[in-house]
Amino acid sequence: MQTDPLPEKIEQGTAERRSFLKWMIGVLSAMIGLVMGIPYIRTVINSAPLRKLSYVEVGDINALSIGQPQDLNFQARVTDAFLRQEVTRSVWAIKHSPDEVTIFSPICTHLGCHFKWNPQTRHFECPCHGSVWTIDGKVIGGPAPRPLDTLPHKIENGKIYVEWERFQVGISEKVRV
Ligand code: FES
Repeated sequence: MQTDPLPEKIEQGTAERRSFLKWMIGVLSAMIGLVMGIPYIRTVINSAPLRKLSYVEVGDINALSIGQPQDLNFQARVTDAFLRQEVTRSVWAIKHSPDEVTIFSPICTHLGCHFKWNPQTRHFECPCHGSVWTIDGKVIGGPAPRPLDTLPHKIENGKIYVEWERFQVGISEKVRV
């Protein structure tokens, strides 16, 4: 007796469709995983301690007065996962001569508040827990565990350029985040 080949063909077609679907699901899963992993990979790259920093122009040295700390604001482009945005940052600049300046990060070395210059006392003071520093960044009061953090900088054609970086707070060593 001759058997009908049709059910066998249908079964074979169904098996092929199943294996194609499995393959498609595998490819789609891999693509989704890759897309979702990009922010994580970016974050790891951006937070690498040895990432390349770049200089940002923060102001004109001729606009500063010698011995008078000045906070300089500048715009920076920040990438966080998928989000790219412009943020305003600031640094403290103290001019020593027409071509010499110290740049301090504005972040308190205790727990990260922004400190201010007090022109009456001529000290830097943190409003959060009362840390106090001299004009050259030495701790003279409060819980700050280390001096103010200086930032790398250069002066070209009268413009001040700073390499913005952050350091761990609450410890006595200056360690880049
Ligand atoms: S955060 Fe500045 S003294 Fe605590």
